[in-house]
Parts: sequence; structure tokens; C-alpha cells
Amino acid sequence: MTEPPRSRTCLVTGASRGIGAAVAARLADDGHRVALLGREAGALEAVAATLPSPSVVVPADVTDAEQVEAAFVRIEREWGPVEVLVSNAGSGGAAPLVETTDELWARMIELNLTAPFRFLRRAVPGMVAGGWGRIVVVASVVAKRGEAQVAAYSAAKHGALGLVRAAAAELARTGVTVNAVCPGYVDTPMTEATVAAIAGRTGRSEDDARASLARRQPIGRLIDPAEVAEAVRFCVVNGAVTGQGLNVDGGTVQS
Ligand SMILES: NC(=O)c1ccc[n+]([C@@H]2O[C@H](COP(=O)([O-])OP(=O)(O)OC[C@H]3O[C@@H](n4cnc5c(N)ncnc54)[C@H](OP(=O)(O)O)[C@@H]3O)[C@@H](O)[C@H]2O)c1
Repeated sequence: MTEPPRSRTCLVTGASRGIGAAVAARLADDGHRVALLGREAGALEAVAATLPSPSVVVPADVTDAEQVEAAFVRIEREWGPVEVLVSNAGSGGAAPLVETTDELWARMIELNLTAPFRFLRRAVPGMVAGGWGRIVVVASVVAKRGEAQVAAYSAAKHGALGLVRAAAAELARTGVTVNAVCPGYVDTPMTEATVAAIAGRTGRSEDDARASLARRQPIGRLIDPAEVAEAVRFCVVNGAVTGQGLNVDGGTVQS
């Protein structure tokens, strides 16, 4: 059942740009209070200044347990328990399998899997106590299929989808839903970094490199961050969808 709009306390990680900023804007448009988390306070404040509803900036590194705890305490003091958690902060790192160092492996797992796990573990008790909650993890198309050169990132994102599915099963009768959104290549600063890396490695122009990423998707273009944000919103308004990985990938994965 689609619920009538009601203002909720939302926490969006990685909210300073790209997908996270678009999600914050979409939730704020629906009248929700949004806490914006990322490492750079200034960038978060710039996003907060554009939002039409109350917001709070909680600078933190998602891989630093003390900073994350302080962010939750700050939000709870301001507004009460987090009711909508969008675990979006993340980053890729590319290398052939045999050149994937222990350091790259550990960094990908820590940022893209362990950090979302810690956010879920911290947010769930307040949601269960309130009888309502929404958790959305921004995973990736590589949570559903493997791609060359991204073994560590892909393993972490597959793990994040496993986390979502297990949490959804465990919480199904509590009023808390847990879903993942699985984007393809989205037009964000992260993809711009990928474009620059391809151009640097191959000698092609950045326009060519960007076009090659667009062509990898059946729809022939990059995904707009607002299209990912709309899928996140769907997971927030719909209480019957849980344990899913919603593909927002231009048709790359059919499931
Ligand atoms: N872009 C794509 O094509 C694509 C495709 C599939 C999945 N995704 C996933 O979507 C999510 C967002 O991607 P995006 O494209 O929007 O990336 P982006 O443009 O690089 O933005 C990443 C956001 O995460 C924050 N962040 C990164 N590391 C952090 C840390 N250790 N602690 C706190 N915040 C951190 C960044 O802020 P600070 O750097 O200021 O901390 C920024 O707000 C990621 O999980 C990514 O894996 C992206």
C-alpha cells in the first residue's frame, strides 16, 4: 500500500554530490527532514542550502565508527530516531584481479560493505521500536553481475545486496523494509573519475570515454541521478517491497 505523505527523519550518507545529493533533494521535496552525511562539511552545507525542508549537516567518515556514532547522536538529539536510512556513500576502485592489492580489497569492503552494515545495525533498533522504518542501500549493477577490473568493488556490492536480503528477511514483520537500488553508470562525479581514468589509460578523449560508458547500457545513455533518487523514493513510499535490488541500469540486468 502506498502511504500518504508524512514527514520522516531521513539520513542520507554521501549526500554532498551525485546520487546522494539527488536523493536528499527528492526526500526533501516530499517534505521529509534530511540529515546530510559526508566528509566535507562545506559541500554538505551547499546541498542543505538548496533543500526546501529542514536539514542538518552531520560531517563524518562512514568508515570511522566514532564519527558515525556522533552523527546518529546529533540527529537523535535534534529530531529523534532515524526513520529512513539511505546508505549511499561509496566509491569504486579498479584493477585487474591479479593486481588487486590487499589494501584495495580491504578499502572496498570497508567502505561499500562494512560501513553500510554498521549503519543498518545502528539504525534498526530505533526503527523497530517505532514500528516503521525504511532502509535503502545504494548498491550497483555489479551487485548482480561481475565486471572485469572491479573484483573488490563487485564483491563488496554483492555483499551489500546479501546484507539487504538478510536484513529484510529478519525484519519483515517489524514495519521496517530493506531494499537496494542497483544503478548502472550514473552521470555523477564518480563516473567523471572513471571517464578520466579511461581517457588516461587509453589515450582517448574524455568525450569518447564517456560515450563508451553510455553505450555499455542498452538505453545508450548514462543514468540521471534523479532517476536513481526516484527509485529510492519508491522504496520509501511502498511498504510491501522489501528484500529487493531494484535495477536502475538502463536495461543491463534483466531480473
Ligand atoms: N556513479 C555511478 O555510475 C554509480 C553506479 C553504481 C553505483 N554507484 C554507487 O552509488 C553511490 C554514490 O555514487 P556517486 O556516483 O554519487 O558517487 P560520488 O559522486 O563520488 O559521491 C560519493 C558521495 O559519497 C561520499 N563519501 C565517499 N566516501 C565517503 C566516506 N568515507 N565517508 C563519508 N562519505 C563518503 C562523498 O562525499 P565526501 O567525499 O565529501 O566524503 C560523496 O558525497 C556509491 O555507493 C556508488 O558505489 C554509483
